[in-house]
Amino acid sequence: MGVVLVANPKGGAGKTTLATNLAGYFANQGGRVTLCDLDRQQSALRWMAFRDPGVAQVTGYFGGNQIVLNLPREADWSILDAPAGLQGYKLSDYLRAVDKVLVPLAPSIFDMAATEDFLGVLRGELRGRRGVLGIVAMRVDPRTKAAAMLEEYLKHFDIPIVAYLRNTQNYVNAAASGLSIFDPPRARFRRDIEQWSGLLEWLERK
Ligand SMILES: Nc1ncnc2c1ncn2[C@@H]1O[C@H](COP(=O)(O)OP(=O)(O)OP(=O)(O)O)[C@@H](O)[C@H]1O
Ligand SMILES: [Mg+2]
Repeated sequence: MGVVLVANPKGGAGKTTLATNLAGYFANQGGRVTLCDLDRQQSALRWMAFRDPGVAQVTGYFGGNQIVLNLPREADWSILDAPAGLQGYKLSDYLRAVDKVLVPLAPSIFDMAATEDFLGVLRGELRGRRGVLGIVAMRVDPRTKAAAMLEEYLKHFDIPIVAYLRNTQNYVNAAASGLSIFDPPRARFRRDIEQWSGLLEWLERK
């Protein structure tokens, strides 16, 4: 089983977008996927409720009240959608249970400042565990000055950027129907799907 935590203390960073699309991807690959919504707002579960019974199945539950994280053993993939502001013992508890941590991060000085302490904590807690922590550059074109600024900033932390996802309404529109960009018809989102290949490879790497 692979367990992926999607986290960033900043609200609106793109956690739920990342988590729901990952769930959609693995479900379309034929895997048994559990979406564990840790956020009281339960956006990921709302997305799931919109999902048509005809598309690849994702199961989910609210895990935000659990004192110790209890993940279903039968899942091939468990995707954890964290709330904004996740920190302290809960964060430590989740980190012990996961194989990979993805931090969606937009290249804005506000987002980078709000995430700085968090990245420091993650680095400390994940010390000695290689290849576990990756950044997803959110709403960014890799050829821009903003992307260069983000890369420069992340050099200090020595954390890799595993994907650049562009700013597009495709994510917004797909989510409104309980879909991911990986649900059919995939051709519609081909350009976006291509941007996920490095990230998906990174996740499957042990
Ligand atoms: N690459 C993108 N392009 C365009 N819009 C995006 C992109 N990623 C996310 N969004 C939109 O940005 C908004 C915030 O994203 P999302 O809800 O995924 O963030 P979040 O980190 O889960 O927020 P919260 O902290 O409130 O849980 C949503 O409306 C989402 O559809
Ligand atoms: Mg969210």
